[in-house]
Amino acid sequence: MLANIPMRVVIASSEVVPYSKTGGLADVAGALPKALTRIGVDALVITPRYTGLGKRSGDVVREDTGELLFDDLRVPFDGEIKGGRVWRDWQDDTPFYFIENAQYFGHGYIYDQGDWDAERFAYFSRAVLELCKRLGAPPDVLHCNDWQTGLIPVHLATTYRDDPYFSRTRTLFTIHNLAYQGYFSPALLGKFDISVEAFRFGMESGSAANMLKAGLMFSTALSTVSRKYAEEIQTPQYGNGLDGLLRARRGDLLGLLNGVDYGEWNPETDRFLPAHFSINDLSGKRTCKQALLERYQLPIDLDKPVVAIVSRMTVQKGIDLTADAMGRILDTGAYFVLLGSGDAQYEGLFQRVRDVYPTQVGVYFGFSNELSHLVEAGADMFLMPSSYEPCGLNQMYSLKYGTVPIVRGVGGLDDTITNFDRLTKEGNGFKFYEYASDRLVEKYYEALFNYYDAPTWLRIQRNGMRADHSWERAAHDYLDAYQRVVAAG
Ligand code: ADP
Ligand code: GLC
Repeated sequence: MLANIPMRVVIASSEVVPYSKTGGLADVAGALPKALTRIGVDALVITPRYTGLGKRSGDVVREDTGELLFDDLRVPFDGEIKGGRVWRDWQDDTPFYFIENAQYFGHGYIYDQGDWDAERFAYFSRAVLELCKRLGAPPDVLHCNDWQTGLIPVHLATTYRDDPYFSRTRTLFTIHNLAYQGYFSPALLGKFDISVEAFRFGMESGSAANMLKAGLMFSTALSTVSRKYAEEIQTPQYGNGLDGLLRARRGDLLGLLNGVDYGEWNPETDRFLPAHFSINDLSGKRTCKQALLERYQLPIDLDKPVVAIVSRMTVQKGIDLTADAMGRILDTGAYFVLLGSGDAQYEGLFQRVRDVYPTQVGVYFGFSNELSHLVEAGADMFLMPSSYEPCGLNQMYSLKYGTVPIVRGVGGLDDTITNFDRLTKEGNGFKFYEYASDRLVEKYYEALFNYYDAPTWLRIQRNGMRADHSWERAAHDYLDAYQRVVAAG
């Protein structure tokens, strides 16, 4: 590559802020390309254009996807040429391209399940490659994310192997969550234009085909979203059956910590807050705390701590541990507020806690970006007792908002949170390791003890607020990774 020609990177992602979101992948896919553009990379994003969203909790969406660029994308799929329309919108100076296809993305949801979802994203993966060819210069790096993009590297290595357009395109595959692998029936391979040889070589998982495995086998290099998770997934405990493969490719596996979009997540400027605050003047945080308690219709006592969770409600997030610890936390007089999306089984559980402690507990089931900002700003402590956590963004948001994280030391939580030490006064949160509610409660008591010691608490808050997890730093790490991928040839 010539020094004065910027590297061209295409980021493919199934969800992208501010258009679609169920979790942190969307934050990353929305922020990383903008940060890359700022450091001189020719970055662009390709994502599906979902229509009719908002019917299911967990889908934050902006339907306005800019201008219709062309309506004749031709995607070889299922033995025919399937059409697609392509839209383009801009975020700052970065173009975001949207693939519209009513058959696959017009049902009012981002994810469904099983073979149907595999088919939807198999179409998407093929469409990404066809769209690249319509957008001018070939990408140096095609940056794929999670199982939904797993067939992109397979097609590049097989279907498009002799296509001169892609002759210098390399792939980086980022694992955001190893637990979701995109299994499908091998009976669909023909429909997806994938050969039996490719299946046997790198997609077979028991009797199923596995899109994530395909991505891991066929990509030039791999990354995941924290250093610790990159190590953990090489062990049987966290490897979800792919640890052997990841150990075999450990020389190609990088751990690159996510960043925070401080344009969105900054208590000094946050557009969703009733008052602003900073590391030098935290008084506005009390106003936010009051607004938060009002919002959850709780009595106002600003001296009591507010303990919060904003999360998808899944086993991953340690929801069962939290439920188990709840009584002991509430018996200290604290407030607890929950903003939780997803699994209905947990709704009943937390609704019952609310019924038993109506003056201390507030629950909101569903997805609300606006409320998530108020919770971050108004709470005193933030719980993330995850069973595993590839990176985790909320603990980094919490740090910036002076909300002290109490976390389990896994993945990105271990990389970003250090336990406060009363002697050295260092540390930005509270951290335990064993997956047990007793350990969570112990750490909560430790936090509470410091909470009632105001100068010490302020010190912990400021230790956290000082951290710089900006995307600028992370974008440089990705640029290094892209350069390695290109050099790896
Ligand atoms: P994950 O991607 O595993 O869900 P992350 O911590 O990386 O975890 O990212 C979660 C993102 O989704 C954060 O931006 C968080 O604020 C947001 N989020 C999670 N649940 C909700 C919810 N119920 N309402 C609003 N935002 C949510
Ligand atoms: C996944 C992980 C989360 C990570 C996010 C963005 O959803 O569960 O830990 O922060 O992806 O990389």
